[in-house]
Amino acid sequence: MSMLYTQTYAAGRDAADELADFRGRFRLPDENLIYLDGNSLGPLPLVTVERMAQVIEHEWGQRLIRGWNDGWYTRSQRIAEKLAPLVGARPDELVLADSTSVNLFKLAYAALALQEGRTEILSDESNFPSDLYLLQGLISIFRHQHRLRLIESPDEIVVPFAAVKAAIHDQTSLVCLSHVAFKSGFVHDVPQITRAAHDRGALTLWDLSHSVGALPVQLDAWDVDLAVGCTYKYLNGGPGSLAFLFVRTDLQERLTSPIWGWFGQRSPFEFGLEYQSAPGIRRFLVGTPPVLSLSALEPALDLCLEAGVDRIRRKNMALTEYFVTLCREVLAPLRYRLGSPPEPHQRGSHVTVRHEEAYRICQALVNPVADAPAIIADYREPDNLRLGFHALYTRYVDVYRAVVRLEEIARCHEYQRFSTTRASVT
Ligand SMILES: Cc1ncc(COP(=O)(O)O)c(C=O)c1O
Repeated sequence: MSMLYTQTYAAGRDAADELADFRGRFRLPDENLIYLDGNSLGPLPLVTVERMAQVIEHEWGQRLIRGWNDGWYTRSQRIAEKLAPLVGARPDELVLADSTSVNLFKLAYAALALQEGRTEILSDESNFPSDLYLLQGLISIFRHQHRLRLIESPDEIVVPFAAVKAAIHDQTSLVCLSHVAFKSGFVHDVPQITRAAHDRGALTLWDLSHSVGALPVQLDAWDVDLAVGCTYKYLNGGPGSLAFLFVRTDLQERLTSPIWGWFGQRSPFEFGLEYQSAPGIRRFLVGTPPVLSLSALEPALDLCLEAGVDRIRRKNMALTEYFVTLCREVLAPLRYRLGSPPEPHQRGSHVTVRHEEAYRICQALVNPVADAPAIIADYREPDNLRLGFHALYTRYVDVYRAVVRLEEIARCHEYQRFSTTRASVT
């Protein structure tokens, strides 16, 4: 067995890690719990605890409704300005609002309306199902004028650029894809696909939920039209934290939101009876933002900005590469198969391993015997075990210990202690 598969080697990598100190700035329950699910929900930054105490006690408790003029009303815009460099956008091209699903609905609706006459929406089989459901719902709203075409993956891991390009044609209205696939972690080439779409007059709508905060995104430089993404994964904004949406500057005045709420009205506090859309990106706002949740996002974003997304990406690639190397050496003989791209630059920040007992192995990871560490990962049907790594709190030692546990669980059939019946949230 190679020297890479030792605690000493992993600890040496941690000792040389320039981002190692960030880990102490998160609340991670105990030393014997390894959290590898930040691709679903990021952990709690310590600074957020302080900030939320202040928002609740002072801003809500003391200031009451006056809070709106003390900063709540402009807070989402201020935080969007902080998010802008993380996605390579201008501040006036982003808003924080609603959920990723709702934002995708608003932008896809606006794009289809603008592209009237074109009959196809293009996505792929690896896209997040909610995104596909929303597109299907829109087809019904537009009275079945469109068809949704899904590009297949040859191996359930990658979707080659050539296949995407070949599927775009003069009837393509919208290309709607996830930057990083939620199961395999495959990274689409956003600039190339966007260029291919524009060559045929199609618009692009990217879901950045699994990339924002984990890898550099350059929406303006890549000429992207529209984008959405969530902030509770790699940005650590807290459960259900507000999502964002992006519209390229020159498209903003040409798009209409399908939901005309007062926050998207030109002057909401005039309480006029006729809707007039706000200029620019603000027209995609709908109603009152959840100020508590919004407030939790800001300190988490600051941590990410302080570390810098380029450094985060470098370490994330090193972590996933370490895991994949050990997976090949140690886990492949135990019937684990890599369900992610083999090259680090082709994958995001989680790695999927496939195994016919993946569901029960995931249970055994979380509920260990004796004093083994508890490892939180997640399971995606039908046989995918996802392990998410984040430069700000994942150590190389965590990767090493996760592989040790995966090896033990499969070798000793520890998973047999668990039922195959799925929990309601996996
Ligand atoms: C890629 C992707 N898109 C969309 C969503 C849906 O997000 P929400 O439930 O916050 O609308 C998720 C949720 O995990 C996701 O992973």
